[in-house]
Amino acid sequence: MELKLVRLSAPAVAADAVIVFETEGGKTFAGSLATQFESGEVTGKFAEYTLVHNVTGFEAPRLLLAGSGKPEALDTTKFRKLVAGAIRSLKGKGVLNAAVALDDALVTPEYVAAAAEAAVVSVWEPDQLKSKKEPEKQIRTITLAITSTDSALDDAFEKGRAIGEALNVTRDIAVEPPNRLTPMALVDRARAVAAAAGLEIEVLDRDRMTQLGMGALLGVAQGSAEPPALIILRYNPASGPTKDNLGLVGKAVTFDTGGISIKPSDGMEKMKYDMCGGAAVIGAMQAIAKLKPAVSVTGVIPTVENMPGSKAQRPGDIVTSLSGKTIEVLNTDAEGRLILADAITYAKQIGCTHLVDAATLTGAIVVALGHSASGVYTNNDALLASLMEASKQGGEPMWHMPLFEEYLEQLKCVYADLQNIGTRWGGANTAAMFLKEFVGDTPWVHIDCAGTAWLDDGRPYMPKGPTGVPLVTFVNLALNWK
Ligand code: BES
Ligand code: MN
Ligand code: ZN
Repeated sequence: MELKLVRLSAPAVAADAVIVFETEGGKTFAGSLATQFESGEVTGKFAEYTLVHNVTGFEAPRLLLAGSGKPEALDTTKFRKLVAGAIRSLKGKGVLNAAVALDDALVTPEYVAAAAEAAVVSVWEPDQLKSKKEPEKQIRTITLAITSTDSALDDAFEKGRAIGEALNVTRDIAVEPPNRLTPMALVDRARAVAAAAGLEIEVLDRDRMTQLGMGALLGVAQGSAEPPALIILRYNPASGPTKDNLGLVGKAVTFDTGGISIKPSDGMEKMKYDMCGGAAVIGAMQAIAKLKPAVSVTGVIPTVENMPGSKAQRPGDIVTSLSGKTIEVLNTDAEGRLILADAITYAKQIGCTHLVDAATLTGAIVVALGHSASGVYTNNDALLASLMEASKQGGEPMWHMPLFEEYLEQLKCVYADLQNIGTRWGGANTAAMFLKEFVGDTPWVHIDCAGTAWLDDGRPYMPKGPTGVPLVTFVNLALNWK
């Protein structure tokens, strides 16, 4: 899909269909559109879409009236959904060239960026492996039409485009089934992104990780025939590395069977999504390379397959992590924290001064928050405040969860420094507390995105499948860095 920005008013845009926005209880269109409003069919309610034909004065043969609701209730998060939903409603209707016209009330850098991002992601479908596609029916161009000539809007437009493209890369990686997206295939994906974006990449293989002593990560990997890897992506501003180095750590378990503590077969296919944190880091690094924030950023992605092979680790095994801490593996299905422990230690060793990790870490966070928000944990309120602001801008809701000392009591162990699970209750919190033991004093935020990385039921604005969360938060955090 080709996306472009033009300086034209809605009536002047030539396209198969042009999307225009109508507020609830606000102004209505005059002339031949008046009947739609008078009949009560069009109200301007949020996400109400009405397609009308041959409106006098408009170049485009079709107009999609998109209700934007009450102006005071609209924000960029809702606007992204509104734009994506509008474009998606035109799919399969013979619209090859679509346009989105923003009236002046909607023309701010934030709204222009949101519209560009939404347009790019709106065309994404999880149909990569369908053998019959109909390219001749797909939307080929989307034109964003504004009238203001302010050049700040061009930059905002490019920012939105870069984030949208990165989200699509993340979703493409995340949607790949687990037989195709092995840890080595993920390495190939990361290499391709790095080469195209101009990022430095380094990959540690099993031998190198053995030399370094990453016993926690390697213990998880040993049950699978697929070799593990640790992927490192580096971005530095043109002026060189900065004093602060933001480390983005993403869990990438390409499939989580649970290992010997095997999961029930019902619904196990969902565990192909257990690499979504890592996929979000790869996409974020692509956008960061494009948008060039003023801070150095390092992506660290531990990738393994958690399988119950004959070499698999057993409940009761004690592994020695890269940090030197020993861990009794009481449940092989609590594998995310094990690979993250070594990835976090390594990120600190290679110079990250601040850490944010993203992981589909626990079912318990889904019990706590549902699919409405990711759970976030921190040892540093200032970094958390920056992250919350970034997530708000990005439309990726997050909720602050606690790290009570009591959770650490649950991880104390007779035979080793730590055990990898606590009691039955508050499982997302004990998982976060486990990670905190490896973070030390480095400012850190942990994002448990188990409930937000995947949409189980399609919505008008997004198909069922990977969401890309928390990619946009990562990118905004880096761009806002002070
Ligand atoms: N990848 C899963 C987290 C998960 C589980 C997400 C279920 C969504 C639904 C993680 O590796 C895991 O298995 N966690 C266990 C931890 C438990 C063994 C302490 C869980 O949450 O059940
Ligand atoms: Mn697991
Ligand atoms: Zn897992």
